Amino acid sequence: MSASTPLPRAEATGDRAEAAIALDRRDEWKALGEHRSGFDSTRLRDLFESDPERVDRNTQRVGDLHVDLSKNLVTDRTWQLLADLARATRVADLRDAMLRGDRINVTEDRAVLHTALRAPSEAVIRTDGHNVVPEVHRVLNHMAWFAEQVRSRTWLGRTGRAVTRVVNIGIGGSDLGPAMAYEALRPYTDRGLEFRFVSNVDGADLHEALIDADPATTLFVVVSKTFTTQETIANATEAKRWLLDALGHEGDEEAVARHFVAVSTNADEVSRFGIDTSHMFEFWDWVGGRYSYDSAVGLSLMVALGPERFREMLRGFHVMDEHFATAPPETNLPFLLGMLGVWYGGFHDAHSHAVLPYSHHMGRFPAYLQQLDMESNGKSVQRDGRPVGWHTGPVVWGTPGTNGQHAYFQLLHQGTRFVPADLIGFARPGPDLPAHLRGQHDLLMANLFAQGQALAFGRTADEVAAEGVPAHLVPHRTFPGNRPTTTILAEQLTPAVLGQLVALYEHKVFVQGAVWNVNSFDQWGVQLGKVLAKRVEPALTEGEQVPGLDASTAALVEQYRRMRHR
Ligand code: F6P
Repeated sequence: MSASTPLPRAEATGDRAEAAIALDRRDEWKALGEHRSGFDSTRLRDLFESDPERVDRNTQRVGDLHVDLSKNLVTDRTWQLLADLARATRVADLRDAMLRGDRINVTEDRAVLHTALRAPSEAVIRTDGHNVVPEVHRVLNHMAWFAEQVRSRTWLGRTGRAVTRVVNIGIGGSDLGPAMAYEALRPYTDRGLEFRFVSNVDGADLHEALIDADPATTLFVVVSKTFTTQETIANATEAKRWLLDALGHEGDEEAVARHFVAVSTNADEVSRFGIDTSHMFEFWDWVGGRYSYDSAVGLSLMVALGPERFREMLRGFHVMDEHFATAPPETNLPFLLGMLGVWYGGFHDAHSHAVLPYSHHMGRFPAYLQQLDMESNGKSVQRDGRPVGWHTGPVVWGTPGTNGQHAYFQLLHQGTRFVPADLIGFARPGPDLPAHLRGQHDLLMANLFAQGQALAFGRTADEVAAEGVPAHLVPHRTFPGNRPTTTILAEQLTPAVLGQLVALYEHKVFVQGAVWNVNSFDQWGVQLGKVLAKRVEPALTEGEQVPGLDASTAALVEQYRRMRHR
C-alpha cells in the first residue's frame, strides 16, 4: 500500500456500505485469524535460525531512532496481511484527513492538528480555510520571550526578587507531558532553577511543592485547556491564597501578575480566575490535551530547557511527522508498531503492553503513554456509535529498567500472560553524567539486551538439564521464550530524540484507532466520575444526604464521615 494511494475514506465519500463493514467481518481480518492458527508452533528461535536476513529486514531507521522489530511474532506474511488490513480500513486516508485539518474528531466536531504545533513556520496547514501555522509560531515566540525572562532572572516577583522556582499546576495532558519531558531532558535544563509539577487534588501534592518554597521567588504556571478542571482550579486557588497571604493582599493584581501565568484555550475563565490574559499563553481546540505538551502546555519545560532546545524537540517531532505522512506502510514505523498491536491484541489475546525504558530519566514516559494510549483508544464504540466487536486499546504500563527486572519481570518471563513489550535504550548516557558514573551505562544496556534475548529465546528444558540442574527443578528453570519485544535504540536522549519518540507513539496510537474504527480524540469516559464526585462532595463536607447513591457507596460515605470526624 502506498501512502499516496487515493483511497477516500468510506464515510467521507458517502459509501456507507463500505464503512459499515465490521472489522472482524473483513476478509483481511479473517485472513489474519487463519494465519494465526498456523502460528501456534512458530518459534522465534526457528524464525531466526532459518533466516539470516531476518534482523535486517525487520529493522527500521527513522531520524535518530534505530528500531529492531525482529523479536516480534511476525513473518513476512504477517506484515503483508497487516498491511492489507491497514489498506482495507483506510488508515492512510484518515491520516491524510487529520494532517490536512479535517474535523476527524467526530464527536466533538474538531480538527486534530497537533502536527501543526511542530510544523516549520513556512508550512501552511489550514482548518476551516484558516492557516494555523502563523499562530503557532506567534505563541512559540511569546513563550520564548517569557522563558528567556525567567532564565535570565529578569522576571521579577512582587518584591523585586527574581523567580527561581516554577510550579506547574495542571492535570492529565496539562501535567503528564511537561512533567515527563522535564524529567527526560533534565541534563539539558537550567539546574539553577527549580521545577515542581502539581496535579493531584490531594492537598499533599501542593504542600510538598511549596513546603520549602519562598513565595517571593515562586512562579505558578497554571495549565488547563478548559480552565474549569476541578483539581487544577482547586490547586491554583490555594496557590494564589498562599502567595497573597505572604506577599500581598486579596485582589493584589500586581502580585498575581508577577507570580501567575496561564496556559489555556479559555481566556474568559483565565481572567475570571484573576490572571491577566496578557499573561496567558494560548492553544487551540484542535490540540487534544494528551497531544499538547509541544504547545504552550510545555511552557514550564521551555523555561527549563530554553527556547532553542524546545525547538530542537519540535524539529524531532516533525521528523517523525514527515515520515508518518510520506513513508509507505511497509517501512512506516508508526504503521508497523500500530499494526503489531492490532495483531497482538486481536489474535494473541494480549491485554496489555509494557513500555520499558532503560533510562532513569525516562521514568515518567510510561505514565505519559498511559494517557496518550488509554485515553485515546480505551473505547468500545465505533466512530458511528455502533459497539465494537473486537478488543481496542491495551493496558499500557511499565517502569524503567533495570528496576522492573527485580519486581515483575518474573511474570513476563514465566507467567501465563502474553505481554508484548517495548525496550527503549540509549547508546550514551546523559551529557552531564560524571565520568565515574558513565561506566555503569554499559551495565544498564547489557541488561536491556539480555532481557530482549531471554524473552525471545528463553531456555529449553534440554538446555537447563544439560547444565546439570536436578530433574525436579528443570520445569521451574525453563524459560518458554517466544515473548515479543521491540527494541528502540538512539544514540542519546536529546530533545530531538524525545520529540521523535513521542511522535512515534502518537502516530502508532492513531493507526490503531483507525483500524479499530474508534475516535481516538475524545474522552467521554472520564465524565461520569467527574459528575458523581461533584454530587458526593457536599455530602462529605456538609453532611448532607446524597440522593441516588447505591447501597455500597452510601455505606462507604457514612463510614468515611464517621472516621473523618472521630
Ligand atoms: O478529564 C480528562 C481530561 O480532560 C484530559 O483529557 C485532560 O488532559 C485533562 O483532563 C486536563 O484537562 P484540562 O487541560 O482542561 O484541565
